[in-house]
Amino acid sequence: MPDVNDPKTYWWRNAVVYQVYVRSFADSDGDGVGDLPGITSRLPHLADLGVDALWITPFYTSPQHDHGYDVADYRDVDPLFGTLSDADHLVARAHELGLRVVVDLVPNHTSDQHEWFQAALAAGPGSPERARYLFRDSEDGNPPNNWGSVFGGPAWTQVDDGQWYLHLFDSTQPDLDWRNPEVPAMFEDVLRFWLDRGVDGFRVDVAHGLFKEASLRDQVVEEGQRASSGQVNTDHSMVSLDLKDEPMWDQPEVHEVYRAWHRVLDEAGPDKMAVAEAWTQTPESMAAFVRPDELDQAFNFAWLLADWSAESFATVIIDTLAAVEPVGASPTWVLSNHDVVRHVTRYGGGEQGLARGRAATLTMLALPGSSYLYQGEELGLEQVDVAPEDRQDPAYLRTGEVARDGCRVPVPWGGTEAPYEFGPGDGQPWIPQPAEWASLTVEAQTGAEGSTLEFYRAALAARREFAWTAGDEVELLDLGTDVLAFRRGPITVVLNCGETAVDLPAGDLLLASGPVDDDRLPGDTAAWLR
Ligand code: GLC
Repeated sequence: MPDVNDPKTYWWRNAVVYQVYVRSFADSDGDGVGDLPGITSRLPHLADLGVDALWITPFYTSPQHDHGYDVADYRDVDPLFGTLSDADHLVARAHELGLRVVVDLVPNHTSDQHEWFQAALAAGPGSPERARYLFRDSEDGNPPNNWGSVFGGPAWTQVDDGQWYLHLFDSTQPDLDWRNPEVPAMFEDVLRFWLDRGVDGFRVDVAHGLFKEASLRDQVVEEGQRASSGQVNTDHSMVSLDLKDEPMWDQPEVHEVYRAWHRVLDEAGPDKMAVAEAWTQTPESMAAFVRPDELDQAFNFAWLLADWSAESFATVIIDTLAAVEPVGASPTWVLSNHDVVRHVTRYGGGEQGLARGRAATLTMLALPGSSYLYQGEELGLEQVDVAPEDRQDPAYLRTGEVARDGCRVPVPWGGTEAPYEFGPGDGQPWIPQPAEWASLTVEAQTGAEGSTLEFYRAALAARREFAWTAGDEVELLDLGTDVLAFRRGPITVVLNCGETAVDLPAGDLLLASGPVDDDRLPGDTAAWLR
């Protein structure tokens, strides 16, 4: 095992981290919603899969308008998900199994049910209670500026006395004013609270959002652009970073917060970490979040945004490594999460989508740094077309456009019909699971030759053999325009993005994402050679 006291071998630098979307992972009590005891009962699946850590989405007290990303009490567990002692039990059991636990921290906004926001409403304009949020007056009856919510519609809501408050997300998620010293003080306490309970790290929600330009000036919107906060695009499932003027994101002051958090994490031990969800415009601005005295990692969304082409993947690899190298951070890679269309579907769905998804995964897992997996991708799950009456995403409720529910459908564990052992009995989950999932359950895929689950298990096992020793250098090889190929230490990786098979270079075939005949790598397939 790497030495946790050596900064070069901190566990997260080469980890595979599995994202658990708590509502949809495993339900212990049959209410149709996943919960903490459900996660604990399924930890052996994660240990068998071979991941190093799990990141759990917010399970704190919340009215669930954004499924937990609207936190009413940062220091307690929502009864829907269990109790604090369930959280302690989960952490202890994960540690017994050799898994680290990363929890989600939501510092950009609270729920409107948080005691601070309730006090702000009660106290009225000009009060210290309102000064924890971004309340403003407006002279003309319109919102104080032209900013849009990431979830659609204006980013401002008016309260009874006429003032407006800013919410970059749903109106039930008021943004905090991070220039008010009470706000950073509260979050440092929250970090300590969960560190004391034994968690190994934090995923920082909207890490690029905390500070807004102090003037709250209008966003400059060029012709053809829509005033918006620039995170979720028109189908509310993917990012669009086409808006260049962003007075609401990525302000320089935010880095002071992460320097302070770095000190809090250090006090708790050398192996505590934080990973930023920061949708930044460039790899360089992403790298600023992971300078040595700030956060440890940032999600590299450029990888999931890359087109299916060898050139796009190569560009992302080169830019990512070049950006993190000067700050000494370890890069990260991610293809799916609870906010984007599942990658098998993005790559076209069906057999081709699955082949491409597996190939992209195998490629990613060989790169230096950490890979973040999203629950269900190890089963090859696709985005589900959720019926309108079952959709719950606030982005859908605000705009009427299909949003993120389709990647949040509960995991199928076993059996032949819904709920596929997601919960006890035959009670149905909070979003219906499709009938086609009978052949995709963990049970159905376990031991099945060629299944996506066995492919992930094999890839993670093989990865362990070289992840810590292959070094951080990546040497790109030229095997033709359709082929991404690189060498990392003893491993050669070949990804064929084209349609015709190509010759594999010399070396022993360790693993491939699909069938390989006679040393020829078919299209939409990747291989590792040694
Ligand atoms: C992040 C989360 C997303 C949530 C939003 C507001 O982007 O990943 O699910 O809706 O923040 O907290």
